[in-house]
Amino acid sequence: MDKIEIKFNLLLLQNMEFSQHTKTILGLKLPTDPRWVNLAQKSLEDILTDHAYCEQKAATSCISLIQRYSDKEKLVQELSPIVTEEWGHFRAVLAELQKRELKLGRQRRDEYVNELMKFETRGGSEEERLLDKLLMCALIEARSCERFKRLSEGLEDKYLKDFYRRFMESEAGHYTLFIELAETYIEKEKVRHRWQQWLTKEAEIMQQLRLRGDRMH
Ligand SMILES: [Fe+2]
Ligand SMILES: [Fe+2]
Repeated sequence: MDKIEIKFNLLLLQNMEFSQHTKTILGLKLPTDPRWVNLAQKSLEDILTDHAYCEQKAATSCISLIQRYSDKEKLVQELSPIVTEEWGHFRAVLAELQKRELKLGRQRRDEYVNELMKFETRGGSEEERLLDKLLMCALIEARSCERFKRLSEGLEDKYLKDFYRRFMESEAGHYTLFIELAETYIEKEKVRHRWQQWLTKEAEIMQQLRLRGDRMH
C-alpha cells in the first residue's frame, strides 16, 4: 500500500458518514454489523473490560516484536513509543471503568485474534513470518479503528462518543505504521499481495463469529 492510498483511507475515515461506505474504510472487506453498537452499549462493563485487554495485548505485541527483531533499528525505534501509547490507552480505559464504578473483569478468550493467528505463516522464510506478524497487527488496528468509529458515531452517551473518537484516530495511525514497517523490510508488491489475502481471511472470520456486545471484535 503506498502513502497516497493510506492518506486516502485516512481521509475517508475522517469524512465518511455512517453508511454502507464504511466497508471501504482501511480496506476492510466487511463492515461491522450496525446492531453491534446497540449490543455493546447495553454491556458497558464487559465491553470496557474487553477493550482494556485489547490495549494490553497491543502493548505486549509491540514488546514481543521489539524483542524478536532487535536487529531491525527502525522497527525498534518506531514501536517503542507505541508500547507507551497502548499502555496509556489501557490506563485510560481502566480509569473509565473506575469512574463508572465498574470492575475490570477477567480476560476472556479472544476468538477473533485466535482465528487470525491460525492464518499466520508457521514455516516459510523469516521474511514471510515478519510480514505476517506486521500485517496481523495492522489488521487488528484497522478493525479496532473501524469498531471505535462505530462506537464514536452510534453511542448515545456524548462523553463516550468523544472518548472513542480519540481511540479511533490513534489506532488509524498505528495501522499505517505497521504497513509502513512492512514496506521498509519487504518488497511493496509482496506486502500488497499478502495484505489482500489477510483482508479476505479477516472478512471470513468476521462473518463466522457470533455477534456479541461484550467483545470489541
Ligand atoms: Fe490502542
Ligand atoms: Fe493501536
